[in-house]
Formats: sequence, C-alpha cells, structure tokens
Amino acid sequence: MDNKPVIFFLSLLLLAALIVALYQSKANPFTQGKAPVAVSDAQNPAVNPHQADPAIELYTTNCARCHGGFGEGKGTNPSLQKNGLGVEQIIHIITNGRGSMPSFIRFSPAELQKLAELVQRF
Ligand code: HEC
Repeated sequence: MDNKPVIFFLSLLLLAALIVALYQSKANPFTQGKAPVAVSDAQNPAVNPHQADPAIELYTTNCARCHGGFGEGKGTNPSLQKNGLGVEQIIHIITNGRGSMPSFIRFSPAELQKLAELVQRF
C-alpha cells in the first residue's frame, strides 16, 4: 500500500499548525518591537503624568500656547516649572493677567484651584 499521499497530507497539516502557532505566539517576530501608536505628548500618560487630571485640558486649551505643554515656557513667555508660586498667587495671576499675559475670567473657583495646583506641580 502506498502511504505517500497520506504522509504528504499530514505534513501539510503539520506545517499549517506550525504557521498558526507561530502567528499566535507572543514571540511572533512580526509583532515584536512594534513602535507604539503615536499620540501627542499632552495625551500620552507615559510622557505627561497629569493626563488623568481634568485641569490638563484647561491648561492645554488656555495656557500651553504660551507656556508650552509642560509649562516649560515658549519664546519670551516664562517657564512655569518650579517657580515657587503659591496657589493663591497663581490664581491671582490667572484672573488678573500680568504684563502681556491676558486675564482669564471664565474659570470657576474650582477650576482655578485645579489649574493652579497643576501649575504648581510642573
Ligand atoms: C498670551 C500668552 C499667555 C497665555 C495664554 C498665558 N500666559 Fe501666563 N504668562 C505670560 C507672560 C508673558 C507672563 C509673564 C508676565 C510678566 O511677568 O510680565 C506670564 C506669567 C505667568 C505666570 C507667572 C510666572 C512667574 O514665574 O512669575 C503664571 C503662574 C502664569 N503665567 C500662568 C498661566 C496660566 C495658568 C495660563 C492659562 C490659564 C496662562 N498663564 C496663560 C503669557 C501667557
């Protein structure tokens, strides 16, 4: 009796199983070392530890264009990092403006508090 076709068929099955196993394996060379999907720095919790804080949104929309995404400063606008200002002082600057910085009157007291605390943590 000729077993060749049976052996050929079994080899094919084995090969298919190997391919599936390789594909599903964590060691799959096709997915290893894949670059993470690009997200903007402000949304990336690995880069921006304040990401979970709603104040980050207020900061990003209202302040980042002048003071930079991390309060690092931009152009002639000063850095907000480690400036030693207290929450009250920061709230005063936000609501009254200073020099070429505009005043912001639309924030609620709670929002001002959160924003000032965020600026303090930069
Ligand atoms: C149009 C650009 C601009 C925007 C928008 C802006 N700032 Fe400023 N900010 C400045 C400038 C310029 C100064 C420096 C003012 C001075 O002392 O003459 C400043 C100063 C400050 C200071 C004082 C820094 C220090 O060391 O004395 C704080 C705190 C501050 N800004 C927070 C904020 C926050 C919070 C927001 C968003 C609600 C904001 N700024 C939005 C331009 C801006």
